[in-house]
Amino acid sequence: MTMTTTTLLVIVLLFPAAASGGALVGNSCSPSGSSCGVGLRCTSCVPPPGTGPAACARTRPVDPKTHGTALPLNRYSWLTTHNSFAVVGTRSPLGSAIISPPNQEDSVTSQLRNGVRALMLDVYDFNGAVWLCHSFGGRCLAFTAYVPALAVLREVEAFLASNPAEVVTIFLEDYTAPGSLGNLFNAAGLAKYWFPIAKMPSSNGNGSAEWPLLRDMIADNHRLLVFTSKQGKQGTEGLAYQWDYVVENQYGSQGLGGPSCPRRAESRPMDSTAQSLVLMNFFTTNPSQSWACGNNSAPLLAGLRTCHAAAASRWPNFIAVDFYMRSSGGGAPLAVDVANARLHCGCDYCTSHGACAATAGPSSASSRAAASPAPASAAAPPTPPSSSIATPPGPAPAPAPNFWYK
Ligand SMILES: *[C@@H]1O[C@H](CO)[C@@H](O)[C@H](O)[C@H]1NC(C)=O
Ligand SMILES: *[C@@H]1O[C@H](CO)[C@@H](O)[C@H](O)[C@H]1NC(C)=O
Repeated sequence: MTMTTTTLLVIVLLFPAAASGGALVGNSCSPSGSSCGVGLRCTSCVPPPGTGPAACARTRPVDPKTHGTALPLNRYSWLTTHNSFAVVGTRSPLGSAIISPPNQEDSVTSQLRNGVRALMLDVYDFNGAVWLCHSFGGRCLAFTAYVPALAVLREVEAFLASNPAEVVTIFLEDYTAPGSLGNLFNAAGLAKYWFPIAKMPSSNGNGSAEWPLLRDMIADNHRLLVFTSKQGKQGTEGLAYQWDYVVENQYGSQGLGGPSCPRRAESRPMDSTAQSLVLMNFFTTNPSQSWACGNNSAPLLAGLRTCHAAAASRWPNFIAVDFYMRSSGGGAPLAVDVANARLHCGCDYCTSHGACAATAGPSSASSRAAASPAPASAAAPPTPPSSSIATPPGPAPAPAPNFWYK
């Protein structure tokens, strides 16, 4: 049985509810109608664009809290969007068309509703405010400036306010001057959700310190974690220096799909357990909807296992991708489900109580995500969309110079 077939089979098992609401994962569908079931969308998996049938693909992971909230934060895995703000079709409020290539297809609010729980945002002082931007020669310019950061952070605030059990993490690629961010987060109304640095496990060499329990973070309303990429800001403005707490693999095409999972330059080695959070980047240097479609499928699951091995047998807490809704099946949501099942059960199958089971019995949906191979009793899987199409609007994957990545 091929990886793809196994994956599709598992997904079908995972989402029996989708059957009543529409087509299943991998079934062909009509992009003009809403023919796919809940948690799916009709999408294209190119190349080449414009040929073959569209198919239903997953847009949401199983809620990691399905496994309960009694574990430390570092025992959960969260769907993460790279350059969450760089959305297809954005027109800068300054009136310019944005010329840097986008990384996502829906708004941050929509991402959060689909279960994205960590955002990667590039912040710059620009035009009298903090903007989410890409740089051109190290500077934010009108035609690379997506949106004032305040607008997106207000979306995060609205989501946290109306979802009192949700925890969101923000990774800032930080080009701002000291002082800019504190004011920004206060203005966005996010101070009340702030996770205090004092409660973070210290990286004093103590090793593998556990984070607070998810339920305590929720009860204390410490539901927003913010990390800066600027070392000098550790402890200022409530900001935590990301690589004191997180190990992270190489981003961009260099870090994608190889036989190893090398660290990015700023990070401690992947197997450094003094940092108890693990972030896995899995996206190409030049963002492309069609490449993401392929790479977010079987290669992502393979990368997950590679990075687990590299990170001292730790499953990534954050799985960061471009175009998170693109795949030929389970995609990034499935990878998050697999990581959570492994984190909570430590085995391929587990019962709804989190114990290992010999086979996939009537266990929780998320625990089944890790199942491999799929149980023999399952019905025949749908035909995989070998060359599905391409309809959804969106620019062709125009090659872009590497400097956009930043
Ligand atoms: C390591 O951290 C734990 C709490 O997280 C603390 O109880 C313990 O004393 C620390 N050990 C050392 C050697 O610092
Ligand atoms: C993954 O991305 C690379 C570009 O880095 C691309 O060449 C490759 O075709 C993609 N893989 C799949 C399976 O689409």
